[in-house]
Amino acid sequence: METKFWRLDREQIDAEKINKAAELICRGEIVAFPTETVYGLGANALDDEAVKKIFAAKGRPSDNPLIVHVASIEQAEAVAEVSSLARKLMEAFWPGPLSIVLPKKDGVAARVTAGQPTVAVRMPNHPVALALIRAAGVPIAAPSANLSGKPSPTTAEHVYHDLKGRVPCILGAEDTKVGVESTVVQAAQQPCVLLRPGAITKEQLEAYCGEILLPNKKQIDIPQAPGMKYTHYAPEGMVYLIDGRDQLAEAYGYWQKQDKKIALLIPNQWQDVIANIPENQVYLLGDERNLAEIAAAIFKGLRYCDEIGAEIVLAAAFAKEGIGMAVMNRLGKAAQKEGWNHGRKNGYH
Ligand code: TXA
Ligand code: MG
Repeated sequence: METKFWRLDREQIDAEKINKAAELICRGEIVAFPTETVYGLGANALDDEAVKKIFAAKGRPSDNPLIVHVASIEQAEAVAEVSSLARKLMEAFWPGPLSIVLPKKDGVAARVTAGQPTVAVRMPNHPVALALIRAAGVPIAAPSANLSGKPSPTTAEHVYHDLKGRVPCILGAEDTKVGVESTVVQAAQQPCVLLRPGAITKEQLEAYCGEILLPNKKQIDIPQAPGMKYTHYAPEGMVYLIDGRDQLAEAYGYWQKQDKKIALLIPNQWQDVIANIPENQVYLLGDERNLAEIAAAIFKGLRYCDEIGAEIVLAAAFAKEGIGMAVMNRLGKAAQKEGWNHGRKNGYH
């Protein structure tokens, strides 16, 4: 399939391209588009055959439900039962990186919700996404626009790399600002549950919802957030989480002796820890005191490791506070559980 790649300027949106992309959506096709978190791959949320194409293009397991993107609270009310609490959350955080899981209304395609009675809704804070949803006139179901299992795309080039030939149209814009996917909160029942941490923090939500629970094992496996059980974000190399500068020096020495191609994903402040490492094996994530900057860089960093063919990725661990909780959640999914000096059974040492 030929993939059209259209670059848009968020300050001056080309209405003709938006209209063409919206026509594709209305005709049951899929279109990739930018949001403030990561790029999404969208289809008409009311058209089950269209939604099926998303799963096929991404290679996504069909029991992992999608977020429905809307351009207003009224549009959310057409697909979900919006409680007074949900409305307060929408008024406080929309447009923005918060997806709210609510009881679904009839009309939402069965594949969007993977057969569940709930639907996740979000109004993205990006003029291109909002223009596309408005022009299409339908809610748009969209997962992140990566191949399933790969890090979510934060640049138009990532999307093109993963989906070229698999989708008819990609709307490109600037690199995404937030860099980690939206916070997902289950608000269909009380108390609310934080299904996925993101830029809107647990503390911010608790000002509206009261105490928020973290998901238990059962909620991860079935049926609340099937997506949480899958490995995500993993580069080809093995990722190890590193606690502090001393551990970085130790781990680097260990893997270097095994003759492995090593990449470092570290904050600027750790730059001097390893002397004489080739520059292209170091990806600087930003200032360790600015976790929003780290979040914006994390997926690009993980993809960079693949670009240089890293076999071992030594990734700095950060404080699990504020958006740091989202950063550590994504790094945790990318990382080996065994620790940096264990390796896999099938044999790195
Ligand atoms: O920032 C984002 O949320 C991006 C952009 C494109 O908006 N989208 C995104 O979608 O990250 P995706 O499909 O990669 O992640 C959706 C997550 C999954 O973990 C899924 O399990 C969960 O939301 N989810 C969707 N519908 C749900 C539902 N009804 N109940 C529980 N979890 C749900
Ligand atoms: Mg995803």
